[in-house]
Amino acid sequence: MRYNTALAILATSTFLLTVNNTKAADLEVTHWWTAGGEAAAAKVLADSFDKLGGDKWVDGAIAGSGSTATPIIISRILGGNPMGATQLNTGRDAEDLVKAGLMADLTEIAEKEGWADIIRPSKLFDACKYEGKIYCVPVNIHTEQWMWLSPAAFKAADLPAPTNWQEFVATAPKLKEKGLIPLATGDAWQVFLTFNVMISSIGGKDLYLKVYRDKDAAAAASPEMKAVFEAFAQARELADSGYVGRSWNEATNLVISGKAGGQIMGDWAQGEFSVAGKVAGKDYDCLLGLGNHPVLHTGGDAFYFPKNQNPEITKAQLKLASLLISKETQVAFNLAKGSLPVRGDVDLATANTCMKKGIEALNKLDNVAPGAGQLLAPDSGLEIEDLSKEFFADKNMTVEDAQARFVSIIERAQ
Ligand code: GAL
Repeated sequence: MRYNTALAILATSTFLLTVNNTKAADLEVTHWWTAGGEAAAAKVLADSFDKLGGDKWVDGAIAGSGSTATPIIISRILGGNPMGATQLNTGRDAEDLVKAGLMADLTEIAEKEGWADIIRPSKLFDACKYEGKIYCVPVNIHTEQWMWLSPAAFKAADLPAPTNWQEFVATAPKLKEKGLIPLATGDAWQVFLTFNVMISSIGGKDLYLKVYRDKDAAAAASPEMKAVFEAFAQARELADSGYVGRSWNEATNLVISGKAGGQIMGDWAQGEFSVAGKVAGKDYDCLLGLGNHPVLHTGGDAFYFPKNQNPEITKAQLKLASLLISKETQVAFNLAKGSLPVRGDVDLATANTCMKKGIEALNKLDNVAPGAGQLLAPDSGLEIEDLSKEFFADKNMTVEDAQARFVSIIERAQ
């Protein structure tokens, strides 16, 4: 018995030694970048990390969208089974983990490398701060207010490519005649994204801020907001019946293959066009703010590093953090991802025409607004997501009924 116990202790310590010696620099990195363009962008990070020598990026991709992956990532950390590093959206998702003392403090390296001076917009970096300390590295600026168009689909229907939402709607009957889908969309979060995009693109920035930031019920009940619901009702007429459960990249691929006229989606869609070898402005086009109001809601991705007792892992974590913010990685990764660098001091000469449109718009502060996830408490966001999903699926739900429900959600929203 005593012998067995001793053996068990020995086995455990040998195991730990093995882990320390051989696996110490194997850094498991979780993320939900599994679509073609996303995987290509993740590979840029993995390859750059491995090239530094010694430590290895162990890919922990989680299939599905952020809404599937985020709770898995959080529960692994809470459950004492942390990964070496993880992607999360830049925002409040990791707040509880930071408060619980489970995340590595990056303040020292952030100060040494002057992150506060190079990361823009500064609001994005604020999301990494808690009680004056730094807990994450933002890696990109993603914006959602885009419509991606297929010139081939409009050509097939003998139509000029639309330049705004109203023109897009007018092309739908001819596209349908040709057996094409006017608007490619997919599962609930994509429909919710469409609704949020429409508030600022159809209604304008003031309406968006009044409703989501100020929780102004009168603005939610206004004729301007009614026009947003009317545009959203047009959108549900333009989607095909097969949209339920379709992933965002499948929807993008309908645009790439010319089977759909357009898709309302974040700029990460550009990663898909890019792996398909498509050129912006030629094989596909983009309407910022649906061609109406060029308002961009800023958000993106950040990397977090759960605390670890193994000094080798801690060393590798800091090495990765520093790499993620370096000029070379910022350029190479963001060009592959379709997002914009968080550093303003990098050369983006090779950015395509759609990215250039985004950069130009972001440079005018008037065009910029916080993302819905930063303005609404998660519960309020979920209620609006449910409403948008139901409205989209049920053509019998009237604009008036949907708007009345929206007003009551905004009245209670946090
Ligand atoms: C977002 C994320 C992006 C993107 C998208 C679709 O949450 O910020 O990086 O890839 O999900 O997976």
